[in-house]
Amino acid sequence: MSSINEYIENNKQRFLDELFDLLRFPSVSADSKYKGDVLKAADYLAEKLREAGADQVEVCPTAGNPIVYGEKTVDASLPTVLVYGHYDVQPPEPLELWHTPPFEPTIRDGKIFARGACDDKGQVYMHVKAFEVMQKNGGIPCNIKFMIEGEEEVGSKNLEIFVRENTERLQADVVLISDTAMISLEHPSLETGLRGLSYVEVEVTGPNRDLHSGVYGGAVANPATILAKMIASMHDENNRITIPGFYDDVQELSEEERKALNNAPFSEEEYKDDLGIKELWGEKGYTTIERTGIRPTLEVNGIWGGYIGEGAKTVLPSKAYAKISMRLVPNQKSDKITELFTKHFESIAPAYVQVKVTPHHGGEPAVTPTDSIAYKAAALAIKESFGKDPIPCRGGGSIPIVSLFEDVLGLKTVLMGFGLDSDNLHSPNEKYDIANYFKGIETIPLFYKFYAQLSKKE
Ligand code: BES
Ligand code: MN
Ligand code: MN
Repeated sequence: MSSINEYIENNKQRFLDELFDLLRFPSVSADSKYKGDVLKAADYLAEKLREAGADQVEVCPTAGNPIVYGEKTVDASLPTVLVYGHYDVQPPEPLELWHTPPFEPTIRDGKIFARGACDDKGQVYMHVKAFEVMQKNGGIPCNIKFMIEGEEEVGSKNLEIFVRENTERLQADVVLISDTAMISLEHPSLETGLRGLSYVEVEVTGPNRDLHSGVYGGAVANPATILAKMIASMHDENNRITIPGFYDDVQELSEEERKALNNAPFSEEEYKDDLGIKELWGEKGYTTIERTGIRPTLEVNGIWGGYIGEGAKTVLPSKAYAKISMRLVPNQKSDKITELFTKHFESIAPAYVQVKVTPHHGGEPAVTPTDSIAYKAAALAIKESFGKDPIPCRGGGSIPIVSLFEDVLGLKTVLMGFGLDSDNLHSPNEKYDIANYFKGIETIPLFYKFYAQLSKKE
């Protein structure tokens, strides 16, 4: 056993305990009532970075939640890795669906259940511990900069400002992020792209007040019905999105690239079983892997209006609402898609109603290179710790800051995630397998080893 693996083995319980302490802070960025807990989580992380041996550790204030920064410069001639992650989490609701409380981490069946266990506290903390492991076993073979933010789940607006204002401090050779998934421990993979996002809220208004549904129903258009129809019309019979111009900029993949993508192990039966559905759905002509990786989509994230309390109230609502997200693929631009959506939504509104579209945060898609030395270092690291070459695949989620790292800092990213799609990110009972946590801690030092070696050869 290598000294690194021995050190991990001897410190397993503490590595878990510390992660549990981090998970106990309800650092929900979407809800201001958690502001104090967000700050505590940031302080905790800063303290742990300091303890692990990082210098210049700072909890950098922003107009929103602070950014935790720390670095270790070993030697100016060595390459520098910028590690990015986020300590904020999604709201835990609906609470009644959690088997154990979201902020009381619990181990069941070898898995850590807690909000943020995988997304992204568990994965961020692997980097803090991998750093400690390297420091205690001969030192880190590269320079390292940590930048852990607290607003990823709400669009990273203040991080964008921070990055633009700190281009000097953030100079590096590559960005390393663990905030994505792999296929499984048996089939390790590396994500090579993220989708962009355009997110809007729509409001449909009918009559100037809620009405008695017996007295007025049948004579006045119901905004909830109209909204449902408008939303339904946004996919055609082939499940393609009907917004004019929506697909104009979509980068199509070559047959070869599509074939490679579809070579990844995937069982439709297991996928359906896991989700409890009988049939899959999606854009005609594309596989499930393609639909969730290289094709743009439109989803309703929430829809409401009228009476939704206990029992029945006979009412024809004045207003109906929906939150709608569109996932974007390379070449599509978030602002443009939001504009196309808005125009289209307004144009299909019948005269019975008025509509209002309010844009929320967005983000651009990103593709990460597979021919860089950093990607090769990640692949070699995985090969050594998992005993298998990683499979390159495209991720369906979004990390908006990745495209900004490229535009503002000129840095490419390696997405070395250790989560699983089935980790219930953003859902009740989010979990992270203990095995994945420790595999991550074992693999990250190998990344630095290979990255330093390959950089020297260049
Ligand atoms: N870690 C996820 C993104 C992710 C998940 C990428 C799984 C690949 C695989 C991240 O925290 C996230 O949830 N991002 C948001 C975007 C943000 C603007 C709210 C998302 O994808 O919905
Ligand atoms: Mn995340
Ligand atoms: Mn997330």
